[in-house]
Amino acid sequence: MVEAKVRKQYNQMAAMYDRLWSHYVSNTLSFLKDWAKISSTNVVLDIACGTGEFERLVLVEYPTQQIVGVDLSEKMLEIAQQKCRAYPNVSFQNATASVLPFAECSFDVIVSASAFHYFDDPIAALTEIKRVLKPEGEIIILDWCKDYLLCQIYDIVLKIIDPAYKQCYTQTEFHCLIVNTGLEIHRATRVRFGLAWELMIVTARLGQ
Ligand SMILES: C[S@@+](CC[C@H](N)C(=O)[O-])C[C@H]1O[C@@H](n2cnc3c(N)ncnc32)[C@H](O)[C@@H]1O
Repeated sequence: MVEAKVRKQYNQMAAMYDRLWSHYVSNTLSFLKDWAKISSTNVVLDIACGTGEFERLVLVEYPTQQIVGVDLSEKMLEIAQQKCRAYPNVSFQNATASVLPFAECSFDVIVSASAFHYFDDPIAALTEIKRVLKPEGEIIILDWCKDYLLCQIYDIVLKIIDPAYKQCYTQTEFHCLIVNTGLEIHRATRVRFGLAWELMIVTARLGQ
């Protein structure tokens, strides 16, 4: 199962993750934070939160923001917990995106960064996201975009060498998954970070 491989890989990488990926993580998560324009009163869920860098960025601006992070990797979560230990309004849980341990209509904003390409069952994850989102809430997903040549190459190579990797999507495929789950796309774009990284972001809401 892909999830067991993801957990193993990120448990092994956790101690080095922030150092290895610092440039990528700070660029992508700053972009996500600016795009999301989260209000300080929003209750936020971060799916596949990793080492809690998004939480750290948000808390610098809004120290009382209520945020819950979930991730498959216990070791990534330990680092996130350590980073955010001064903030009682922030919590972390070990869970998969496809079975979220929350009641319906719990969150104003749900974000997920650089993780959708690991999701074994993206429709199950989107269905869960939809279930726990409040009626007026927003979902913001940032991930690699297969419209770009480099991502097409990463996709081919990672499918061969990385057992945890599932696949990345073109913007059209990604939007189809979202719309087929009954969500409406509100805002979307593609974005490059330096020469190596080409991503897409979408803000979606519950359909009428
Ligand atoms: C590249 S890291 C991104 C972490 C963080 N979002 C960031 O931008 O720094 C991918 C994370 O996704 C998590 N992940 C992958 N598949 C997942 C799933 N199905 N449910 C929850 N977490 C998952 C991994 O454990 C890992 O921490």
